[in-house]
Amino acid sequence: MSKICLCLTGKTIKQDVELLNKYRIYADIAELRVDCLEPGERLYVRRFPELAGIPVILTVRRDVDGGYFTGGEGARLKLLANGLAYANADSRFNFAYVDIEEDFNVPSLEEAARTFGTRIIRSCHDLDGSVTDIAAKMKSMKHSGDEIVKVAVAVKNTHDVLNVYRASGSFTNQDKILICMGHYGIYSRILAEKFGSFLTYSSALSENVIPGAPGQMDVKVLSELYRFRKITKKTKVYGIIGNPLKKSVSPWFHNNILNLEDADAVYVPFPITDIGDFMELAKGIDIQGLSVTVPYKEDILPYIGEKSEIVKTIGACNTIHRKENLWAGENTDYAGFTLSLLNFLNKKNLKRQKITILGAGGVARAVASEVFNLGGKALILNRTPQKAKEIAEMYKFRWSGLDTNGIELMLKYNDIIIQTTSVGMEGYDDSDPAELYSFTGKEAVMDLIYTPSQTPFLKRAAEAGCKTLNGYDMVIRQASLQYANFFGREIPKNHLAQIEALGENQWDKIISA
Ligand code: ATR
Repeated sequence: MSKICLCLTGKTIKQDVELLNKYRIYADIAELRVDCLEPGERLYVRRFPELAGIPVILTVRRDVDGGYFTGGEGARLKLLANGLAYANADSRFNFAYVDIEEDFNVPSLEEAARTFGTRIIRSCHDLDGSVTDIAAKMKSMKHSGDEIVKVAVAVKNTHDVLNVYRASGSFTNQDKILICMGHYGIYSRILAEKFGSFLTYSSALSENVIPGAPGQMDVKVLSELYRFRKITKKTKVYGIIGNPLKKSVSPWFHNNILNLEDADAVYVPFPITDIGDFMELAKGIDIQGLSVTVPYKEDILPYIGEKSEIVKTIGACNTIHRKENLWAGENTDYAGFTLSLLNFLNKKNLKRQKITILGAGGVARAVASEVFNLGGKALILNRTPQKAKEIAEMYKFRWSGLDTNGIELMLKYNDIIIQTTSVGMEGYDDSDPAELYSFTGKEAVMDLIYTPSQTPFLKRAAEAGCKTLNGYDMVIRQASLQYANFFGREIPKNHLAQIEALGENQWDKIISA
């Protein structure tokens, strides 16, 4: 089974030992990154395996390979030789592995390593996409039977990841390390076992250390949330595709539930650039189900063999699951919104309710359709009035711009206000989409944004005495519906309650890379 390697990138040996002691429960192997140590500290690495108490990789990564060593090759050889010198008959006191780049040809050093049981990791770091045939590269790199070939590719897109995965399949029955570095390769690190990699590198990111390489995950998150050590070839893979995907609550939510159920399944973030390449990869990894988010909710349609009625009607899909040899598509966005809104209002429908919908984008379109189905009467206000008009005319709703005229109309449609624009979203804009509107305090106000948990608009509503709700509840409800779609069963109520008890800001701490 694939192992977790904790990269130690501290400035001093003491720092690295402290880090290892704090996180050793998560690590099978440690990598001492000599290149990250202060020059004076580099002379004292020989005792590190003894201090570590777990197998250690000796690495002096050059800057050209993505590391921090800027000295000459002679100096690097000295550091490596020093680390391997005075070999102890008890192999626990020696480095278990030494990382030697493919172009670093020093037979005497390799001989010394082999004599004392230090396994060679023969590495290649492809930072610019120059390796076109990865499988051929791996075959040509291997010098002797006991070596572990390592290829780390800085992936720019999903196609690059697919190439690495394919190479893995044609280099079997031998230990190898395959890594897709960077944001688009993050899932290759979680699914190292599926990629046939001997180990996955991770860092203690919460300690503010420099990550060993771009895209490395936090070791605790990898172990506790993704339960890396339980992932076997048989583990069922689920996940979320989208771009960008840095702010998604889904991996946190689904993995916590899977953990509570002790299910042999993992839910992985898949930031992707191309749906065709990814669906190819999905076949290889044998993915069982996917949440689909922006911008792929329509692009996914050609891959779906069995569409639910709602997917057919609205032409957008946010959930697919494997059904025999096809993908079945569902959309839980609508039901998630409706359940959340009705629960918030403690109502069964929206009859006799006058509602303002702020915004006329994709989300507003879904909201308008549900408001109509529930019997509500709405006013749609949007920065671009034409788009408000297009949606409003479908349901005989009123519409206007987000201007004084619109705000005046809002006073007549203010039983419920539903905010669907991106205004106030973290990383986008921290203004208020309806700053000219004065809340009476009687409105029920729902803002579909959940990062931050309170937008300036929602804060103003709460301060005026309004009943308020952010989008977190809706997201959890639609994710719960997705779970039911994936597994054919509801989430047990007590498990859901346990997740809810963790509080709505917990998930935000764990997203990395
Ligand atoms: P989504 O799928 O999340 O609805 P979208 O389709 O891009 O995303 O829609 C974004 C919504 O936020 C639109 O209503 C947009 O107004 P425009 O149609 O005029 O673009 C609204 N929006 C985005 N930025 C805004 C801003 N600074 N002020 C007001 N409205 C804004």
